Amino acid sequence: MKFAATIFFAGLISAVFCHPQCLGGENHKAAPSPETGFQECFLYEESSCCHANFTDKLSLSPIIELNNYYWNRCGNLSKKCEDYMKKVECFYQCSPIASHWIHPNFSEAVQHVPLCQSFCDSWFEACRSDLTCAYNWISDWVFDETGNHCKNDCIPFDKMYVNGTDLCQNAWGTSFTVSSSTCRCLDFTATDFKVIKYILERESSEESGEMEACKPKLQQPKDKKEPDLEPRT
Ligand SMILES: *[C@@H]1O[C@H](CO)[C@@H](O)[C@H](O)[C@H]1NC(C)=O
Ligand SMILES: *[C@@H]1O[C@H](CO)[C@@H](O)[C@H](O)[C@H]1NC(C)=O
Ligand SMILES: *[C@@H]1O[C@H](CO)[C@@H](O)[C@H](O)[C@H]1NC(C)=O
Ligand SMILES: *[C@@H]1O[C@H](CO)[C@@H](O)[C@H](O)[C@H]1NC(C)=O
Repeated sequence: MKFAATIFFAGLISAVFCHPQCLGGENHKAAPSPETGFQECFLYEESSCCHANFTDKLSLSPIIELNNYYWNRCGNLSKKCEDYMKKVECFYQCSPIASHWIHPNFSEAVQHVPLCQSFCDSWFEACRSDLTCAYNWISDWVFDETGNHCKNDCIPFDKMYVNGTDLCQNAWGTSFTVSSSTCRCLDFTATDFKVIKYILERESSEESGEMEACKPKLQQPKDKKEPDLEPRT
């Protein structure tokens, strides 16, 4: 009985205090830290779960291959489509907040990260005419030592997916979901670091939380290029 209680409390304590800081898997660091020499993913440079060298291949365009996963199986992606793919890849590999949505059974995966509808719609628009052969880019392939290979024909994104919601909620398996809130959602900009706390406390104060989370969005400067992280001292 005492043994069971000890195990219970140990579990509780580790759940509360030992939240993993980065996702698992060989490309993730154990904990986020600043990096120098990023070529891409600048949003996460000050607190990153990936090493700077991960961004080297991401800075090339068109992106051909990353960790033996080929991006060009249906031809090179357009620059604008690729830019969205990069944002998602950077978030997954480098973001210090991705682990809040760690998959319960696979520590290297995320589950149900809430994305903004507007982001998903823009992503869909950007990729609309690009080609893809996989509905689920994680699993709809034949894998061998030379990487991922198409199982199906290459078709335009707007034939593969009905709309941005379909794209966000299926292209990366269950990794992403479209948030019902226009504020408590991520769009892979500097605002994410402000809205994260409102996303995490959502149940406590539904109404005021929504108001509060809107504020940083509204106050955000028009120019989104510079990540405005908390100043480091
Ligand atoms: C990237 O850098 C990290 C840390 O410096 C190193 O452990 C890793 O082997 C490097 N990876 C590659 C592919 O060079
Ligand atoms: C894709 O891009 C690569 C690298 O720039 C280029 O060599 C290749 O010809 C391109 N392929 C197509 C089909 O345009
Ligand atoms: C995790 O694994 C358990 C046990 O196999 C299973 O019941 C559960 O559905 C899995 N969860 C997810 C999100 O896949
Ligand atoms: C996207 O398509 C699905 C399936 O047809 C539909 O249920 C949903 O309302 C659409 N969402 C938007 C935002 O248009």
